[in-house]
Amino acid sequence: MTVTAVIGAQWGDEGKGKLTHVLSKESDIVLRFQGGSNAGHTVSVDGEVYKFKLIPSGVLHPGVRCLLCDGVVVDMLTLADEIVTTRERGAFRGELQISRHAHLLLPYHRIQDIYFEEAKGKDAIGTTRRGVGPAYADKYFRVGLRAGDMLRPDFAERVRAATHRKNVLFSGYYHQPEVDPEQVWSDVAPTVELLAPLVTDTVILVRQAVANGARILCEGAQGTLLDIDYGTYPYVTSSHPVIAGALSGTGLSWRELSRVIGVSKAYNTRVGAGPFPTENTGEAGERMREEGAEYGTVTGRPRRCGWLDLPLLSYAAQLSGFTELALTKTDVLDGFAGIKVCVAYERNGSRITWPDLDPDVLDRCTPVYETLPGWQCATSHIRSDDELPTAMRGYIRFIEDYVGVPIRTISVGPGYEATIQRR
Ligand code: IMP
Repeated sequence: MTVTAVIGAQWGDEGKGKLTHVLSKESDIVLRFQGGSNAGHTVSVDGEVYKFKLIPSGVLHPGVRCLLCDGVVVDMLTLADEIVTTRERGAFRGELQISRHAHLLLPYHRIQDIYFEEAKGKDAIGTTRRGVGPAYADKYFRVGLRAGDMLRPDFAERVRAATHRKNVLFSGYYHQPEVDPEQVWSDVAPTVELLAPLVTDTVILVRQAVANGARILCEGAQGTLLDIDYGTYPYVTSSHPVIAGALSGTGLSWRELSRVIGVSKAYNTRVGAGPFPTENTGEAGERMREEGAEYGTVTGRPRRCGWLDLPLLSYAAQLSGFTELALTKTDVLDGFAGIKVCVAYERNGSRITWPDLDPDVLDRCTPVYETLPGWQCATSHIRSDDELPTAMRGYIRFIEDYVGVPIRTISVGPGYEATIQRR
């Protein structure tokens, strides 16, 4: 039995999709453990491009069982659409099941996300507006509907009652139009027929997979610095992208983890508001955005770009106990003469290496950079470690030495073949 977890080490968008897609081919079971349709990854198989927000791309592989586990929030409309579209394209080759405990995201959650963001004005978080925060809020307020509720005969009544409760908030607090409970039900009703048969006790399936010695892959969404507890609160998502989320969100135990892969870009990006000490709003950041096509998969927003922040990467590595790192998009730095890397912060005259993620504190930290030589040559064609330019090997070693975790995978381009595996 092996349990591999892929965890975002930054603010999401680290290129986890490519890695999980490759790893899922060698897995028996793929577990999505947190987040919802705020995530997005694009995969291409045999020249066909697929964009998924909820379904693990493992469904494209025959025989792979994919589970949306307890910690996920399931947008009924998005999930139904992804299933139908993938089936129509004849590409749904694996299996998909949904935990009966996973919370449902209904159309009113999306509306609430928009009302909430607009009411916050200049303090808006810059959410993906997919309703993920409101769905988790209902979960913790203990008023949410769960996937298992779809199997109850009074599910329609529950949806109408939940919509009525939202309307009290919408009109009374947000002073916004109410939503029609009948409309909500008529929107989601057609998806129940499709989704209800997929609902099951996924914890039993996970425990059986462990007992049978299966190869298990935990697919993280978002990244460590967006964790609701360990991220730059309140500029965070509402779930736990750290390794602890992979346990609480699935029913796996810590004893079962074999490999925890932290995924980091060779630089940093962030989409939405919040502190970003190494953000570069000048020519370097602009170049990273254009070379790296740094525009959000879900929202299309331009991502903020900047140099790699090693204190933050080291923080992520310690929180999740990364056993290895995957460094992605290194090719984006191919043309830079010098590569800056943040090794510490300066605040009130002192040098700090342990980051305080409180936005008020992090915003007032000045990064201390070291500049390493760039390699200034194309690298996307390279497939083996020893063909890498010396300067790039130097950059990789610098990161490994700082974080204390080996970089085992290097992604030098968007294609699956553009990957270097190191021993
Ligand atoms: P929410 O998850 O939609 O509530 O958004 C909260 C914050 O997390 C915002 O800054 C989003 O831009 C960010 N976020 C959520 N999902 C992702 C993701 O998959 N990649 C990058 N940022 C994300």
